[in-house]
Amino acid sequence: MRILVTGGQGQLGVALQRALSEHEVRALGHADLDVTSAAAVSEAIELFHPEVVIHAAAWTDTAAAERDPAAALAVNGEGSGNVARACAAAGVPMAYVSSNEVFDGEKGAPYDEDDPTQAINEYGRGKLAGEEAVRKAGGDFYIIRTSWLYGPGRTSFPEKIIERAQADGALRGVTDEIASPTWTGDLAPALSTLVSTRRFGLYHLAGEGGCSRKEWAEEVMRLSGIGLPVKPALQADFDLPYRKPVDSTLANHRAAALGITLRPWREALAEHMRTPQITELIAARAGQR
Ligand SMILES: NC(=O)c1ccc[n+]([C@@H]2O[C@H](COP(=O)([O-])OP(=O)(O)OC[C@H]3O[C@@H](n4cnc5c(N)ncnc54)[C@H](OP(=O)(O)O)[C@@H]3O)[C@@H](O)[C@H]2O)c1
Repeated sequence: MRILVTGGQGQLGVALQRALSEHEVRALGHADLDVTSAAAVSEAIELFHPEVVIHAAAWTDTAAAERDPAAALAVNGEGSGNVARACAAAGVPMAYVSSNEVFDGEKGAPYDEDDPTQAINEYGRGKLAGEEAVRKAGGDFYIIRTSWLYGPGRTSFPEKIIERAQADGALRGVTDEIASPTWTGDLAPALSTLVSTRRFGLYHLAGEGGCSRKEWAEEVMRLSGIGLPVKPALQADFDLPYRKPVDSTLANHRAAALGITLRPWREALAEHMRTPQITELIAARAGQR
């Protein structure tokens, strides 16, 4: 298949390049394609003639989105609309990567695909605007909501926790933010399988199960052998310009019905913790002390 990927140099974009290696892939980074330009998006599609476009580009800095909502919306809402309209005009299906943050987190149980959405921060509102723009464009689409991405090639939550533990010797983790950690090494192949099904629609694809940030940090500490205890904290204890949904764990019903599942989050994390990215980080830091 010929697959065009937006946000091709991002965390998920890089994992997709690896997972899609048997396909003919053009992964365009921000410098190659700015999705806020409708003309540039149309031109990229006309030049490559993809059979599917995976739209992974996004403004993902939640704090910056809160400070400049219009700029974030221009990328996550209107930019996604540009991709969706260009795909619809060219007759190309689009896969839009969306977020757990389209939910308010108040349900008290994992979110099903059809649960009502209600974003509580500007990043979430932008991702939701993107979903609406994709639906309105009139083409074939997959909308795939995922959450708490981490994986090879990037410094994300597990690496930051290890660095903080080794630098400060103390850790705090919030108990009032719960979601599903999702390893890009699992998500990217699942996305690859999904976009070849032509079973269009709305999906959740996240690591199975959920945990708080505190529990996630504790599991990183346990698996790393560092074993530092994680003190409980609340979002309100940190000076953050945004609020995150309290529990936006995603239930993956629709993809599972197609046989596409992701491992329980602890299993995927255990594999990530065995990668050189983590083992070398722990060894290097230990050597500095
Ligand atoms: N990370 C998570 O925990 C998480 C959770 C749920 C959903 N998601 C969604 O998953 C997708 C991939 O996320 P990720 O973690 O891979 O994020 P990422 O590492 O921040 O990658 C996003 C990429 O989009 C690019 N980008 C930003 N503005 C752009 C624009 N106007 N035009 C084209 N490209 C632009 C960024 O480039 P620059 O950095 O050069 O600007 C970046 O390379 C996104 O749709 C995100 O909303 C992520």
